[in-house]
Amino acid sequence: MSPFLLTRTLPEDATDAALRADVLKGLTSTPKTLPPKWFYDAQGSELFEKITELPEYYPTRAEREILVGRAGEIAAATGARTLVELGSGSSEKTRYVIDALTGLHTYVPVDVSESALTQAGQALAGERPGLDVHALIADFTGGLVLPQTPGPRLVAFLGGTIGNLLPAERAAFLASVRALLSPGDALLLGTDLVKDERVLVEAYDDAAGVTAAFNKNVLTVINRELGADFDPGAFEHVALWDADHEWIEMRLRSRTAQTVKVPALDLAVHFAAGEEMRTEVSAKFRRDGVRAELAAAGLELAHWWTDGADRFALSLSVAR
Ligand code: AVJ
Repeated sequence: MSPFLLTRTLPEDATDAALRADVLKGLTSTPKTLPPKWFYDAQGSELFEKITELPEYYPTRAEREILVGRAGEIAAATGARTLVELGSGSSEKTRYVIDALTGLHTYVPVDVSESALTQAGQALAGERPGLDVHALIADFTGGLVLPQTPGPRLVAFLGGTIGNLLPAERAAFLASVRALLSPGDALLLGTDLVKDERVLVEAYDDAAGVTAAFNKNVLTVINRELGADFDPGAFEHVALWDADHEWIEMRLRSRTAQTVKVPALDLAVHFAAGEEMRTEVSAKFRRDGVRAELAAAGLELAHWWTDGADRFALSLSVAR
């Protein structure tokens, strides 16, 4: 049995304070917004797992296809002895890379969900003798402090989650990742690609309504955590393609004029009939754009791999 260590860098109450600040800011802005990170309570994480199995939602399958095909090349190109995974969740797809990295010394999964970290981390430490697993409960958009482990380092950020950040947030995020790396260390980044609008919209507005339930779940989270009285049924799920920004936007559209109370914030929020609140952007990328954003952060694109249908890309970039 290999060592399994869990470090909390996030105070227990930090999440609560951040949720309050985000909800207060978002619900008092014009237009109203809510950040997508609050989708993922136990119910939301379960709904997201269901989304990844939907026929319309291709990104998870496309990324897995690339990882299966390219894990050996990723291992050879990086020779990583430390693998840091941001937003590791179940670590399910990362297993292909971990298995290919024969010289791996330490795996550092980073997530805000302690249950996901413990489950995945302990299973891995049990299966791979000699591999240290040092899990971090942390918000990867903040200033991460990594354990002292041997290089070369590989940071992985999979799933296309970088697309959920706005352009300025992406720049700050990539700069903070670069700060974790020494010259020659690498970043493995998953990005969903620009494609036919119909394919994109269906991926975020599936026939079975799972994404609609996922979107509305954020209201349930706010009800539970802040004592609000949102009626999820009073909102309609909207997914649209913004061709100028090249991102999918998810919104919740108020079916009627209504006022929602948020007691923990001492707030009453009015929604006009038909008013739309943005709950997520999911940006889609092109190679040149990814290359430029990486370069701006001091990362040089070294490999670009796509699935057979060119729907999704994995890039490997190297710190300068
Ligand atoms: C968390 C980035 C993988 O933006 O595609 C899925 C979240 N939102 N359906 C994405 C999501 C709606 C997802 N990622």
